[in-house]
Formats: sequence, structure tokens, C-alpha cells
Amino acid sequence: MKLLLIGSGGREHALAWALAKSPKLTKLYATPGNAGIAQVAELTDLDVSDHGAVIEFCRSRGIDLVVVGPEAPLVVGLVDDLEAAGIKAFGPSKAAAQLEGSKAFTKGVCDEASIPTAGYGRFDNADAALAYVRAQGAPIVVKADGLAAGKGVVVAMTLEEAEDAVRACFEGSFGAAGAEVVVEEFLEGEEASFFVISDGTNALPLATAQDHKRAYDGDKGPNTGGMGAYSPAPVMTDALVSDVMKRIIEPTISTLAKRGTPFKGVLYAGLMITDEGPKLIEYNTRFGDPECQVLLMRLESDILDIIVASVEEHLDTISAAWRDDVALTVVMAAKGYPGSYAKGTEIRGLESLGSDTVQVFHAGTRRDGDRLLANGGRVLNVTALGATVGDAQKNAYDAVAKIDWTDGFSRSDIGWRAIERESNS
Ligand code: AMP
Ligand code: GLY
Repeated sequence: MKLLLIGSGGREHALAWALAKSPKLTKLYATPGNAGIAQVAELTDLDVSDHGAVIEFCRSRGIDLVVVGPEAPLVVGLVDDLEAAGIKAFGPSKAAAQLEGSKAFTKGVCDEASIPTAGYGRFDNADAALAYVRAQGAPIVVKADGLAAGKGVVVAMTLEEAEDAVRACFEGSFGAAGAEVVVEEFLEGEEASFFVISDGTNALPLATAQDHKRAYDGDKGPNTGGMGAYSPAPVMTDALVSDVMKRIIEPTISTLAKRGTPFKGVLYAGLMITDEGPKLIEYNTRFGDPECQVLLMRLESDILDIIVASVEEHLDTISAAWRDDVALTVVMAAKGYPGSYAKGTEIRGLESLGSDTVQVFHAGTRRDGDRLLANGGRVLNVTALGATVGDAQKNAYDAVAKIDWTDGFSRSDIGWRAIERESNS
């Protein structure tokens, strides 16, 4: 099969790396890609927002399947346009991607299917939202409805913070994403992520993971796209996984099918494990980044078989096999991230890395002749396997220590919560 992979992050390098292992793959193109993806794919520079240009490329190269990494192309309907042109694509339609594209949409699905989630109100004007916030009191959570690159959520510990967040949304801090606001009950518990793949009818559970969103050690500092992750998430017992499948995932898949907008692709549930059981915080409609890196490091099955089964709607005929090992990834970012940072600084020392147990997935990198240069905020994902979270952490940080990049930084405590749990058990 000839594939086109869309994206340029660590998630897409992990996907490219896993796809390249499939005996069914004959040619992999990627756009725009990065220096790591270029090791296994031919890069091309398409304007992905120009769906006609993507279709034209697929036709001229005889592409059998397009794999979409990030959410933005899904939410604007790239998969719909490709399929209308007769080109197979992996990922949800525009209508189904609303599960990520609109928090109010997801709340509506939860209401319809009695899915456990935080109580909420949705508002299209500041006065009504402020009145609700005051009536509920703090702590409380204020969310811009639409896609805001992970920045549209304020967990307000005081009423003042909550009121400021409501005003900021309606004053346009998140652009169109903030035209509507969802105000939510504050949930207490441990967070975990759960990934499934669906073909519109069936949902195949993949795996669980936990990430670290804050920039600095101790989960301090500004929010980021994710500074590290590990899989599986120790908090997610088998019993919890089947509970989540039954009460959250399956009702979501059947509700979207019933509405005539079946969900196909990766469904990524952000969960809060509360005293009352698991509750849905949010959905994403694609793999997480960096969660994808740890998932694919553990996957023994052919990812292309699973993707094709989703696209061709026969997921009920396959299963996914996983290594028992834990996978853990440490993100190396450019100094200054998530604020301003320099691009073009040189990275050395990667040549000696890469084995059965360690993979360095590239995010923002590019080649300049023989030199490897940083080309973004999150730059490398140093990913390792181990028998325990502690082992995987040690293997990952041993590899980080071999990378010579003075302009980069990483957290030194990825996995701390799980390691604490291991040492207490
Ligand atoms: P989201 O973009 O919806 O995943 O929210 C970002 C982060 O905000 C989540 O990962 C949680 O840490 C936190 N969060 C979101 N909603 C809630 C909630 N209802 N209660 C507590 N924390 C929340
Ligand atoms: N790491 C969080 C995300 O991909 O949304």
C-alpha cells in the first residue's frame, strides 16, 4: 500500500516508524514531516488546508490511504473531501470530529447517552455565564467551546479567576473558539487517558496512558502540549477499562452512529478517576502527542492492519497485541518553550541511540546537510521500554543524557506519580 501521512510532530514520527514496519507498506509519503520522519518516508510540502491540492497529490502518486495525525485537518473535513474524491482516509469525518472540535457538542452526546461527566452549563454571553459561575461558586472550570490549542481551559480555584476567564473568552482571547463557553463542575481525582479505535460501529480498546502537561518538574509552570507520558496508566485497572468501555466509549460510538455521523478513527478519552468512578473530561479525535509514542512503542500488532480495519469497517475481526513492558517518553524542548524560543540550534549525539528498547522520535527537527537542527518548541521524544515505570524512566533518561543539545531542556521527573505508586505497592 502507498500511504500519505499528514503531520510533523513526534506523534507522526512514531506513526511513520510503526507503519514502516508493516510488510503491507510499499511507499510512505509524509507532509510536511520532520527530520525523523524523513528516515522512513519521502517528505513533500503540501498545503494541507488546500484539500484540492492533497487530492491532486494522492491521485498523481496513486495513494491508497491517507493517515491524518493532528486534529485541525479533521475538524475542517479533510477526510470527508478525500472520501468524496474516492480516496480512503483514516480519521473521523468533520461531523464526528466535533467530539474534539466542540466541548458543547460532546456535552450534548453525554446528556443523550447518560455518559458520566462533569455537570455543566453552556453560554453564548458573558452575563449568563457570570451568573452561573457565581451561583455555583469556586473551584469551577471555564472552557472556550472550540479548538484553542489546549489553552482554552481555566481550572479556577477562586471566583475571581473564574469570572476573569469568562470575560477573557467573550472578549475574544481564544478567537472564534470562545464565542461559546462551557462552565463545568470541578472534578477531583487522578487523570488518565484511554485510547480506542473505532470503525463507526465497533470500538477496539487500545491502551491507557498518563501525561505531564506542565513545563517544569513537580508538575509546575505553564501548560504545554505535554512534556512526557507513559503507558499503561497504573490507575486504570482492567475493571476500570471495561467500565469505561461500557459506560463512556460504547455509548458514544452508538450515539454518533444513531445520529448518522458514525465515528471512525482514534477516540482519545481524557478521564478523571473520581470516587464515584470514571468521568469523561474531554474527547480528542486523534492520537495524543506524546501519548502516541508510548502506545506505539508497546504495540506488537501491525498498526496498518488496525488502521485498515477501521477504514474498511471490520474492526470486529482483529485484535491488538501489546508488550507487557511499560513505555515512557521524555520530551526535550527548546529552552523557553512554551514561551518564545530559538530555532536552528544544533543537536548532536543521536547516532548512538535507537535500539529495541529506546527510540528517539523527532518532533520539531530539520536537517541542514549533515547537521540536525531544532525547528520547534517540542523537539525530541526520547522513548524507552522497561519492566516497570521506574526501569523505563531510567532507560529514557540514560538516553537523554547521551544527547548533546545545550539549547534544550527536559523535565527530570516524568512518571513520578506512577513510580511512587510502584514503590508503595
Ligand atoms: P481539557 O482541555 O478539557 O482536557 O482540559 C485541560 C485540563 O484541565 C485537563 O487535563 C484537566 O487537568 C483540567 N480539567 C478540565 N476539566 C476539568 C474538570 N471538570 N475538573 C477538573 N479539572 C479539569
Ligand atoms: N498530549 C495531549 C494531547 O495530545 O492532546
